[in-house]
Amino acid sequence: MADIVDLIHAEHRIMSRLLARLERELDIFEKGERPDFDLVRDILDVMLSWPAACHHPKEALLEARLAKVSPEMRKRVGIIEREHLKMGEQLANAQQALDSILMEVEVSRDTFLAMARNLIARIKYHLMMEEEEFLPLARQSLDAKTLEALAREAEAAVAERAECLGDRLQVLLAETDNKAPA
Ligand SMILES: [Fe+2]
Ligand SMILES: [Fe+2]
Repeated sequence: MADIVDLIHAEHRIMSRLLARLERELDIFEKGERPDFDLVRDILDVMLSWPAACHHPKEALLEARLAKVSPEMRKRVGIIEREHLKMGEQLANAQQALDSILMEVEVSRDTFLAMARNLIARIKYHLMMEEEEFLPLARQSLDAKTLEALAREAEAAVAERAECLGDRLQVLLAETDNKAPA
C-alpha cells in the first residue's frame, strides 16, 4: 500500500500540475490577452482549500512523528506550518485581487500578476523543500511499517472532509488538461 510519503508526493504532483496551468494563464494575461478567469479563480480556490483540509494534516502528522526520532526535525518543527499559513494568506490576497479585477475595481493587472507570480514562487519553493528535505528525511528516519500506519491514520483523519473526496479536484484537473494548449 501507499505510505504517507507516497501520498504526500502524489498530492505535490497534483499541485504542480495546477500551478503549471495557472502559470500558463498568467502568461496569457501578461501578453494583454484575456485568460480563462474562471479557471484561474478555481485553481486559486482549490489551492487554498484542498491542501489546508487534506494535505497539510498529513504533513503535520508526519512532522510530529518525525520530530520524535529526528533531532534535525525537532529544530524545524513549526517551520512547515508557518509556511502553510503564509501561503494561505498569499492565496487569499491573490483571490481578492482577482475579484477586484473581475469587478473592475482599482487593481492593476501588474499588481495581480506580481502577487500571483510571487505566490507561485513561494509554493514551488515550499514543494521543493518538502520533496528534497522533509520527505527524504522521513524515509531515512522511519521504517516502512510506521510510514504505512501513518498513511492509514492520515487518510482516516481527513476522509470525512468534503474537500478531500476529490470530486471537485478531479473536475478541475480534467478541465485543466482539456484546456491545455497543444
Ligand atoms: Fe507543506
Ligand atoms: Fe506539501
